[in-house]
Amino acid sequence: MMIVVTGATGSIGRALIDTLRGEEVVAVVRRPVDLGCEYVLGDFDRPETIGKVLSAGDRLFLNSSLWPGVVTAQQAVIDLAREAGVAQVVSVSVRDARPGAPLGGGAHGEIDAHLRRSGLPWSILEPTGFMQNLLADVREGRFYGAYGSAKVNYIDTRDIADVAAALLTRPVGADATYVLTGPESPTHAEIAAAITAALGREVSYVDLPIPEMAAHAERRGLPGPVALEFATLMAEMGDARWSSLTSTVEEVTGRPPRTLATFLADHATAFHP
Ligand SMILES: NC(=O)c1ccc[n+]([C@@H]2O[C@H](COP(=O)([O-])OP(=O)(O)OC[C@H]3O[C@@H](n4cnc5c(N)ncnc54)[C@H](OP(=O)(O)O)[C@@H]3O)[C@@H](O)[C@H]2O)c1
Repeated sequence: MMIVVTGATGSIGRALIDTLRGEEVVAVVRRPVDLGCEYVLGDFDRPETIGKVLSAGDRLFLNSSLWPGVVTAQQAVIDLAREAGVAQVVSVSVRDARPGAPLGGGAHGEIDAHLRRSGLPWSILEPTGFMQNLLADVREGRFYGAYGSAKVNYIDTRDIADVAAALLTRPVGADATYVLTGPESPTHAEIAAAITAALGREVSYVDLPIPEMAAHAERRGLPGPVALEFATLMAEMGDARWSSLTSTVEEVTGRPPRTLATFLADHATAFHP
């Protein structure tokens, strides 16, 4: 029985590989990389390259970033997992995923629906936004959004990995969806103050109207329509949809999720200078 980890080079995947030291693990990666564990080359765009890694009784961690072909690709890997007799799929979705939801929520909703009706034992992780996003977002002492003064939850991807590790190493439980949050839901002004304190230099949050935020996201590389959807979703957070907390991380792992202060202390040198 192997634990097969896809998306192993991402921020959840690397933390998961670290947590699973001592277990029988194989990472699926697109190019050779030293993760300190066995790896095979595989690409979701060629699902059979992942399917051939899977054997009866394996546990599969299903995770990748999003691209236009992700729904078809992940659904095909789910079908191959069922054919192989995989014992359990633990997948990474997003809070409030459902078909037709904005941004990644729609794609995840379609993948999740396919997994739930696959006949495979499943655990679907629905995390809020990642604290690790801040590492890319903070540039020249600023980061941008359209959240206003909304309280928004963020989670450290190491906690998502810890939940996944627990689910992948204990006996397969009942099918379930796990909504994962961090322990607090700050405003973005409060996040900026916390970063300023942790880095010892001024970092400010710049709140923009939706069209200007969309233009900013487009300059950062998002296609126009996606950038607009992204900015609109940020502004909709004012209804507090991502502010409530769950106790799921602690219930599954036995300890509370990491605070923003802990994330910042552990990553202070990883921010752009
Ligand atoms: N970011 C957030 O705030 C957030 C919040 C909630 C949920 N999520 C969800 O969390 C998941 C991971 O998010 P992320 O983008 O932040 O991950 P990430 O850390 O950027 O990692 C993505 C991983 O997917 C792999 N990958 C991408 N395309 C692949 C392909 N065609 N075949 C094989 N591997 C592929 C990447 O491998 P390479 O190293 O080869 O590129 C990498 O290991 C996504 O499903 C996202 O929707 C994200």
